[in-house]
Amino acid sequence: MVIGKPGASPREGLAGSADQAWVEREQAQARAYDAIGARYDEAFPHKEGQLAVVTMLLERLPVGARVLDVGTGTGLPTARQLADAGCRVAGLDISPRMIEIARGNVPEAEFVLGDVLDLDVTDPRYEAVTAFFSLLHLPRGQVHAALGLIHEALVCGGWFAVAMVEADVDDVPIAFLDSRVRVTGYLRGDLRSVLTESGFTIEHEQVLSYAPETSSAQPEIQMFFLCRKADRQS
Ligand SMILES: C[S@@+](CC[C@H](N)C(=O)[O-])C[C@H]1O[C@@H](n2cnc3c(N)ncnc32)[C@H](O)[C@@H]1O
Repeated sequence: MVIGKPGASPREGLAGSADQAWVEREQAQARAYDAIGARYDEAFPHKEGQLAVVTMLLERLPVGARVLDVGTGTGLPTARQLADAGCRVAGLDISPRMIEIARGNVPEAEFVLGDVLDLDVTDPRYEAVTAFFSLLHLPRGQVHAALGLIHEALVCGGWFAVAMVEADVDDVPIAFLDSRVRVTGYLRGDLRSVLTESGFTIEHEQVLSYAPETSSAQPEIQMFFLCRKADRQS
C-alpha cells in the first residue's frame, strides 16, 4: 500500500518561511514522541473505549479490508487489533521511534514514517481509516485539511473511526509525559459539525472520562466517533 506522496500536501500552499516553520514544528512534535516512546502505553494502559469502537468498525468491514491507522503510535492497541482480525494494516506516524516500536508490536503491518498531511489520495484505497488521538496534534485549520485527505483516501462508503479530547483549544503547547507538545481540541458539538462538514456521517459516538496512570499527563474527556464517508455529490 502506498501511503505518503511527497509534494502532494495541502502544505504546498505555504510558501518560504511559513513552510519551514511548519516543518520545524512537526519535527518538534516528532522529537517529543521519540522521547515518549513506550512510556505512552505505560501512561495510557486502559483502552476499552478505543478497543470497543474498533470492534464496532470490524463488524462493518469485509474480510481482508485495507485499513490505515493515522498516528499509529506504538501500534497498540489499534494496528494490533486490526491485524488480528485479518485486516491489511498500514500505519503512519511522524515519530521514527514510534514507527520502530510499532514494527516490533505488529510485524505483519506496513508502517511508514510520515505526516498525515502528506497522505497520498490519488486513488481511494482504504475501506477504513482510524485516527485515535493523533489529529489533536494539528492546528484546527490542518485538522480540516487532514479530514479532507482522509475522506479522499477512503473508498465509497468507507469507514472512519476517530478519537479526540474534549477541550475548546486550538494549537496550545502543553507538558505531556515530560515532553512539550502542541494540542487542539473541540467541544463535542463542534467536533460533530467538523466531521459532518468534512463529508462524514456519524454512525456512533461515545464520550468517556479517562485518568492516565501518571501525574505527568492530565485526566481528560475522550470522544470516540465512528463515521461513514458520505457521498459529497449526493
Ligand atoms: C497521542 S499518540 C496516539 C497513538 C495511537 N493512535 C494510540 O491511540 O495509542 C499520537 C500519535 O500521533 C503521532 N502524530 C502526531 N502528529 C502527526 C501527524 N501530523 N501525522 C502523523 N502522525 C502524527 C504522534 O507521533 C503519536 O505517535
